[in-house]
Amino acid sequence: MASKPADSIQALQFFGEFGGVNPSIEDSSTYTFLHAKSMEELFETAKEGCYLYARHTNPNNKYLSDALAGMEGTEAAHCAGSGMGSISTVLMHLCSACDHIVSSRTIYGGTYALMKNVMPRFNINTSFVNITDLEAIEAAITPKTKVLYCETMSNPLLEITDVAAVSKIAKKHGLTLIVDNTFTPLIFSPAEMGADVVVHSLTKFINGTSDAVGGVTCGSKELISGMMDVNNGTSMLLGPVLDGARSASMLKNLHSLPVRMERHSRNASFLAKKFQEMGLKVKYAGLESHPQHELMKRQMNAEFGFGGMLTLDVGTIEKANELMEMMQHANLGYLAVSLGFYKTLFSAPGTSTSSEIPEDEQAEMGLSAGIVRFSIGLDQDINKTFLTMKECIEKVM
Ligand SMILES: Cc1ncc(COP(=O)(O)O)c(C=O)c1O
Repeated sequence: MASKPADSIQALQFFGEFGGVNPSIEDSSTYTFLHAKSMEELFETAKEGCYLYARHTNPNNKYLSDALAGMEGTEAAHCAGSGMGSISTVLMHLCSACDHIVSSRTIYGGTYALMKNVMPRFNINTSFVNITDLEAIEAAITPKTKVLYCETMSNPLLEITDVAAVSKIAKKHGLTLIVDNTFTPLIFSPAEMGADVVVHSLTKFINGTSDAVGGVTCGSKELISGMMDVNNGTSMLLGPVLDGARSASMLKNLHSLPVRMERHSRNASFLAKKFQEMGLKVKYAGLESHPQHELMKRQMNAEFGFGGMLTLDVGTIEKANELMEMMQHANLGYLAVSLGFYKTLFSAPGTSTSSEIPEDEQAEMGLSAGIVRFSIGLDQDINKTFLTMKECIEKVM
């Protein structure tokens, strides 16, 4: 596939108020009107280029949203103050009481907890399925199902979803397919493969500097304007707004996303191969041993590689903890959740980002306690990193 998402980032052209190469930062929460009638009209129908109040949107929000819609190839997009802000508002927009969701069981723990613990309070229930089993997906669909939900590369098991096949099922049953592309920006273009909605936690690779939290929903104009509607839009009324100054800094970080993704992927691929040669239990989508390696190759925008995420199963949580502390001490990265930073980040998902998932369900899906999840950094000398990691691993194993 061509590198269309990167081209769309390179083609961005937003001038600042005085001709600056970056858009000016709009530092206002509210906007003046020359005529009272115009304010009335804007409350009735949103107008391109007219701003009302920053919870609705602001110019920097709009620049970032437009850039991300371009990257994902959707008609429109809208940013929120966190990935969960985007996920919760789009789900609340699409589902009403008594509706049903079919979701992949291997998703970010926060999304899982939202569907499992919070949405049932509003009588919106979810069936969790193995997303690589197309028959299981279809079997879980009921007349009440409205949404099919999955991640392109799942957190933390790194399973790859066959988005085109899942989209066919969604279309057959009239469902909206939402795909979380947080782990694989640029690498996958889910909308091109049939997703109706693409969400991201901007907090991760897209921002890439681990200094801010944000999210985005990319979809049709109808969806996005519906979510922003002043009278019944969940984004407008639940209010998870992304601050304009943060939108401006995230837009600047987005400019370097293509080169960062290439380097994250190259470094992760190097380490995964070396770990495999050492006989370790490594999972990386670029290895032939990964169960969906061929599917990944078919779906990906190849020049961005297989991503920056890999997992290593060291057997027990005690060994995982010892290894992570040792690696942090050796300055190989940080023992921290999240991903997409210039330094490697590592955590044990069973006791952290996926701890919302009960232990028996973790075991059923293959999430063992000894798994360490790595978000591989932008290290210039990755062989040096490997040699130090090898020393740490050998001490622990
Ligand atoms: C795949 C995925 N989606 C969504 C989220 C939620 O994003 P945020 O922390 O920005 O709310 C995360 C956070 O870890 C994630 O990993």
